[in-house]
Amino acid sequence: ECFLRLNRLDEMQQYIRQKLRLKEVCIVPGNCDSDKTAKDELSRKGALLLADLLDGVKTVAISGGSTMAGVAATLPENASGVAVVPARGGIGNRVEFQANVIAAQIASKANGTYHMLHIPDGLSESTLRVMLRSDMQTKKIVAMAKTAEVILFGIGRSDIMADRRELTVSERKKLADGGALGEALGSYCNVSGEVVYATNNVGISLTELQHNLHVIAVAGGSSKAKAIIAVMRACHTGTLVTDEAAASEIAKLI
Ligand code: G3H
Repeated sequence: ECFLRLNRLDEMQQYIRQKLRLKEVCIVPGNCDSDKTAKDELSRKGALLLADLLDGVKTVAISGGSTMAGVAATLPENASGVAVVPARGGIGNRVEFQANVIAAQIASKANGTYHMLHIPDGLSESTLRVMLRSDMQTKKIVAMAKTAEVILFGIGRSDIMADRRELTVSERKKLADGGALGEALGSYCNVSGEVVYATNNVGISLTELQHNLHVIAVAGGSSKAKAIIAVMRACHTGTLVTDEAAASEIAKLI
């Protein structure tokens, strides 16, 4: 039975990889929605993929969220000395899930350095431009994120991320009108992988990941299946780390 299950996971990995045109798909057993161990395993798998890359790279960019917090928590101690930056400006109010904090935790595990971006969501385009022009530190960190050899990010359901970011009624209308299902790196995507709304902030966006050598998305739980399809169709590259429950649902839908 165990052999059959492993075989099935392997087949799903290949199927999803081909259909979503990704470099690699890794599936851990279980369902993160209902099983804390599965969520820990998912984060651990992301952390191990990251650990394997660390010796060959200078900079890692990372997003926020509970899955990325789990990656930081399960990353083995290492001596890579890598620099870690948040992929984008900050979001939400739970400090332990913020990219700045997660970047600092990864840097501490790697005996490396970290840099923070102190920019909230919701600033106007002109204010962001002024900050980028006048604040050398912000400019430097944004450039580091955009050229980081590794980018790791979580994927959320767009309705849940809209709540977490406290989006306005008119912003939520844009999501509904565009059929948004999933969110990553501030971009909300529909089932075809079109970005229907993006938060105004600095850093890496989902559609420019081709500048990053290693792209790793980590997200699981059957409730995130549609969100994962939407986001991975928008980024159409990289490695997806997910769980069995999300993968079975994704395989049915693509
Ligand atoms: O942008 C999406 C979020 O990072 C996902 O957060 O891992 O807490 O579900 P989560």
